[in-house]
Amino acid sequence: MVKTDLLKKAYQGKKVFLTGHTGFKGSWLLLMLHQLGAIVKGYSLAPVHQNDLYHQINGDNFCDSQIDDIRNQETLIKSMVDFQPDFVIHMAAQALVIDSYKAPVETYQTNVMGTIHVLEGLRKLNKPCNSIIITTDKVYWNFERDTPYKETDQLGGYDPYSNSKAAADITINSYQKSFFNLDNFEEHQQGISTVRSGNVIGGGDMAENRIIPDCVKSLENNQPISVRNPNAVRPWQHVLDPLYGYLLLGAKLQEEPKKYSEAFNFGPETEDVNTVKELVEIAIKSWGHGEASFPKITNKLHEAGLLKLDIEKAKTQLGWKPQYQAETAIQKTIEWYKNAKPNPAEYTLNQIEEFLATPA
Ligand SMILES: NC(=O)c1ccc[n+]([C@@H]2O[C@H](COP(=O)([O-])OP(=O)(O)OC[C@H]3O[C@@H](n4cnc5c(N)ncnc54)[C@H](O)[C@@H]3O)[C@@H](O)[C@H]2O)c1
Repeated sequence: MVKTDLLKKAYQGKKVFLTGHTGFKGSWLLLMLHQLGAIVKGYSLAPVHQNDLYHQINGDNFCDSQIDDIRNQETLIKSMVDFQPDFVIHMAAQALVIDSYKAPVETYQTNVMGTIHVLEGLRKLNKPCNSIIITTDKVYWNFERDTPYKETDQLGGYDPYSNSKAAADITINSYQKSFFNLDNFEEHQQGISTVRSGNVIGGGDMAENRIIPDCVKSLENNQPISVRNPNAVRPWQHVLDPLYGYLLLGAKLQEEPKKYSEAFNFGPETEDVNTVKELVEIAIKSWGHGEASFPKITNKLHEAGLLKLDIEKAKTQLGWKPQYQAETAIQKTIEWYKNAKPNPAEYTLNQIEEFLATPA
């Protein structure tokens, strides 16, 4: 069976409450859910930049969009309860490490309290519902070791972003035990899973200080790509791979909520990791021309150097596996920036269709 058919069985005609729908991953997920025939209510702040993917795809055409703050508990809960979702996918977050150093309080308020507000919304639903809550691979306490991190490894985080996401993850676990305990499943009828994935790349990411948008800006302007952390090893993955993993997990949760209400890692194969320098070299090759520069950075804020995820659990329990290797992921991303311009929604939908047409 191809991926589309498997997911349509779970999502066609179903109501999905999606936080963070105006963000990079949210915009891709919105189009995937549209392709699958789901009815989507989005809840997020407005897109930050004029050229954000959400604006480029005219995201309002694909959902009922509510522009509001997840820190506003009352508004969020009302929105969730009024909508009566079958699925909740929570990805709204202050998602940038650098911004978390600039605004730690707001980062914790959004990432921890915002998540608690979503969980409180689930408590008020009083209906069967399955939820996927997105944290990150940065929730693992980073020992700068070579062994990949498993779902059972110690959580923690150095910078406020990673730490707030680890705190959110721990909080979700408390709610799972305290209010959505699987021993009382018949009472609440809710499955909740946490998903942890690494840095993703894909067309339309316009955030500052992320490597692909920085590369594309430099390539478009015929300037050298300034590489901050050339030797940092990252598990680069195309955005469609973890998003498919989240949706697959949601489908499994719907079938067997008691079995899948746990944390899952989604990332590339362990050997498919690249340094930032390698990523930049592939990007330059895919673009056709360009060069990189490696400025010496003093007074640098702490950034984790090495982080690998163990994805065996998703592979064995969900039957998920990464479809695009890093090189293909980078190529697809650069192709997007080169070719999507006339109709970004159509181009993105085509990339989604191509991805979902492959065997599940
Ligand atoms: N992009 C990555 O490489 C990556 C890697 C691991 C995990 N994640 C996680 O995936 C999720 C989505 O990331 P992204 O890259 O799309 O981020 P993004 O910054 O592009 O989007 C963030 C979204 O959250 C919303 N948001 C932020 N603060 C909010 C608030 N107070 N109230 C309501 N909405 C708010 C924004 O409006 C936006 O829709 C986040 O939870 C992030 O931590 C991302």
